[in-house]
Amino acid sequence: MRLVFVGPPGAGKGTQAKTICDRFHIPQVSTGDMLRAAKTGGTLPPPLVAQMSAGGLVPDEVVVGLIDHRTNAPDATNGFLLDGFPRTVAQADALTAMLASRGQHLDVVIALEVPEELLVERAVLRRTDKRTGQIYHLKYKPPPPDADLEHRADDHEEVVRNRIATYKQMTSELLPHYEKLGLLKRVDGVGSVDDVTSRVLAAVGEPNKS
Ligand code: AP5
Repeated sequence: MRLVFVGPPGAGKGTQAKTICDRFHIPQVSTGDMLRAAKTGGTLPPPLVAQMSAGGLVPDEVVVGLIDHRTNAPDATNGFLLDGFPRTVAQADALTAMLASRGQHLDVVIALEVPEELLVERAVLRRTDKRTGQIYHLKYKPPPPDADLEHRADDHEEVVRNRIATYKQMTSELLPHYEKLGLLKRVDGVGSVDDVTSRVLAAVGEPNKS
């Protein structure tokens, strides 16, 4: 199973990816997580750190390189879930070529759809446990008292709104691109986490047995 999650900031890609990856025994490959790890490790060039903090995209060649390397790792032999990549048609074309050179192809692209006001609330009140990577929400999924919480630099309202605008601009081409290829499934991302998981599983053709 090789699948892609596309969706605006706060749509629930990371939250759903963890469940789907456990279910299919495939790794979650998140360009956002990889870029944040590079930032923490001091290997992300300062102009790219600034671009991310302002809610813009980093250059295509940077993320394509990360994806090429990560999807070639032994744990990705039987598939992977790409969370937040591709975001542009140029990235999608690079991915298609990369997979074709390995005799592989994508199975499905899931677009998680959530209205803007809910996205802002989800992103601004998100907190992540630095030690475990677990995603919490101050209102919908409160963290335990001993969690070591982090508030993402790009999760402040103004930046979230910039990220949503960037997303709209980018998907105006990306979603029709995957629609034309017959790979796109649109999934309603509003509702409980479990309800959304059931819809995602239905979209990938798997009944929810839990
Ligand atoms: P990235 O890390 O990919 O961020 P994003 O796409 O903006 O998505 P988020 O992580 O904000 O949201 P999510 O959909 O994963 O939501 P989550 O599950 O956490 O990218 C960050 C930056 O990196 C980009 O802006 C860009 O600069 C750069 N970048 C990354 N990839 C790139 C690429 N390919 N090209 C160029 N640049 C790139 O959920 C959010 C909150 O809601 C959580 O608190 C969660 O608990 C809660 N929640 C989730 N589901 C529900 C539900 N059903 N009900 C109630 N609450 C819920």
